[in-house]
Amino acid sequence: MALGLYTVLIPSPAFAVGTRLAKPVSPWHVHSRQGLGAEGSLRAGVAGGNSARASSFVTTMPKIRTSRVKTPPEVYRDIEENVQVADTTFVANTARRADHTHVLLVTTGSVASIKAPLIVRELLSYAKVLVEVVASKPSLEFFKKEEIQAAGARVWTDEDEWTGDFNIGDPILHIELRRWADVVLVAPCSANTLAKIAHGLCDNLVTSLMRALSPATPTYIFPAMNTLMFEHPLTEQHLRTLREVIGYNVVGPIGKKLACGDVGVGAMTEWKEIVHIVVDRFHLAQAPSSFDQP
Ligand SMILES: Cc1cc2nc3c(=O)[nH]c(=O)nc-3n(C[C@H](O)[C@H](O)[C@H](O)COP(=O)(O)O)c2cc1C
Repeated sequence: MALGLYTVLIPSPAFAVGTRLAKPVSPWHVHSRQGLGAEGSLRAGVAGGNSARASSFVTTMPKIRTSRVKTPPEVYRDIEENVQVADTTFVANTARRADHTHVLLVTTGSVASIKAPLIVRELLSYAKVLVEVVASKPSLEFFKKEEIQAAGARVWTDEDEWTGDFNIGDPILHIELRRWADVVLVAPCSANTLAKIAHGLCDNLVTSLMRALSPATPTYIFPAMNTLMFEHPLTEQHLRTLREVIGYNVVGPIGKKLACGDVGVGAMTEWKEIVHIVVDRFHLAQAPSSFDQP
């Protein structure tokens, strides 16, 4: 299926054979993102700090298949050289790079998804930033995967989660993506995805990822919808749940003439403002332009 993949055999500490899975500490109590990302700490807990508890479940260490994937720099080089970019298996530890900020952009079925390539391109104009995009199916009506790839990132969809050949031990995409992310931007967040997140539904890659997120991962929600959708009493309730129960940062929407022709509140926060939130929070510096290179 994927280009340039090969397979290796490694033991995985996360799986117990013959009995049951060793249960690590709750992700809601993990607050360190150093090195491996929030979930990396969790895994380290199973292999390291919790090893006594974990090992009591393990009778034989299984050989588990995982795949060597292209690192983001390799993928970006492929893009630059116009090589076809494969939707390969994604493994957080391989895809993360030291001293980089890992931005996960989630797009949903609002017209404002048209801004996704601009957000990606602008973020990648900063030094030591990597971006991955998770797109709901409707959001792909508003931009093309190729636009994101041309900007220097990859797009992950439900088809990448459900490839039809899953084996125990294979990386699970929505988990790997959340392990990878230093910050998550849901931009735009449709009324539908907002409602699903507020109620804990997780029936696609976007909402499975959101449901699996660690509270240690800063998460920003940028609602975008028609004014009457926004003024619907349920919207207020859902946004309150996201702010007060889940602890997300909700930014916007703003008022302006919407794509549907209505004038009122419901538009996504300006895309440059979204980028600035990340720039400010992670103190990003502009990458040197090619003119600055020796
Ligand atoms: C042209 C078009 C524009 C739409 N714009 C929005 C929008 O701005 N906000 C919104 O909440 N829903 C909008 N919708 C409806 C969503 O796309 C629809 O509810 C979809 O199921 C959302 O799925 P998702 O949340 O999984 O992306 C739009 C639909 C169409 C056909």
